[in-house]
Amino acid sequence: MNTQETGTIAVFGATGQQGGAVVDALLDRGARVRALVRSPESDRARALATRGVALATVRIDDPASVVTALEAVDAFYFMTPEANSLKEIEEEVRVGTTLVDAAVAARVPHVVFNSVFGADRVTGVPHHDSKHRIEEHLRRSALRTTMVRPTGFMENFANVMAPRVEDGTMVLRMPLPEDAPLKLISIRDIGRIATAVLLGTVDVPGGAVEAVGDELTGPQIAAAFGAYAGLPSRYEALPLSVLPNELDREMFREFEKASEHPSDLAAVRAIEPTTWDLAEWIRSSGWTAPADRVRS
Ligand SMILES: NC(=O)c1ccc[n+]([C@@H]2O[C@H](COP(=O)([O-])OP(=O)(O)OC[C@H]3O[C@@H](n4cnc5c(N)ncnc54)[C@H](OP(=O)(O)O)[C@@H]3O)[C@@H](O)[C@H]2O)c1
Repeated sequence: MNTQETGTIAVFGATGQQGGAVVDALLDRGARVRALVRSPESDRARALATRGVALATVRIDDPASVVTALEAVDAFYFMTPEANSLKEIEEEVRVGTTLVDAAVAARVPHVVFNSVFGADRVTGVPHHDSKHRIEEHLRRSALRTTMVRPTGFMENFANVMAPRVEDGTMVLRMPLPEDAPLKLISIRDIGRIATAVLLGTVDVPGGAVEAVGDELTGPQIAAAFGAYAGLPSRYEALPLSVLPNELDREMFREFEKASEHPSDLAAVRAIEPTTWDLAEWIRSSGWTAPADRVRS
């Protein structure tokens, strides 16, 4: 597909993880991309510009700047920033609703919201319910909308949830019972799924897709890392009290109920056939147990 066919796709969050993956996938498909950034002089914004991405400066406090940035685009992708407190939750909703209102004013033909799994309902998880509120705001608008609802990032196993090698055993600890399946997706695949939707090359039944590439219990996740490293594995379930805040504790309480909401892996692969499962992500991402965590 060439740029003449795809028109211009606007991306909010392009200097971040998920938005960056969307830009990667759009450029791979030959699309013309306009990134809505707050700091066009930042290193990450400049790096986008060197790859041919047009930069449009936006300030959430100046909604007219967002409307201008969205003029004449064919589709608009947005995510909302991380929130770690109830105050930040309100800021997240404000960012999301400002972007939606600007898309209405600019008459954007198709909006793709990078929400979160479970945001079709109220769950009591503050940083999921914030996305539910933005989804409701979108539903009340006259916009044509598709929700891409990512599950947990596989990349978390390269940092905050990294397994450790202890005495020759791959050990994974999470605040999750050992029989609770965890839904997972790679950030690369969030970008690819969103891109297929943005370019209109796929149908998304119901106007929403849960972005999930694998669903595994703690012991199964530990075993996948152990198999890759050629080591035996062990999983240890931790109490919720190890989490830094009540928002994350609510989220892991919700994770425990995952089996009430089974994933449709086939629906995701119908959109993006190359979606990685965890074993493929481990192989392809060059994952290694962090050296400073290895104990012999
Ligand atoms: N971690 C997980 O497993 C997981 C799973 C599902 C969903 N999520 C959700 O994913 C979201 C975080 O996504 P991410 O990791 O891709 O974020 P990220 O890497 O932190 O990127 C945030 C992006 O938003 C931009 N941004 C933030 N505030 C802005 C503002 N006021 N004006 C303009 N741009 C602004 C940032 O721009 P700058 O470069 O200028 O800062 C950056 O491009 C959260 O909502 C989280 O709840 C996370």
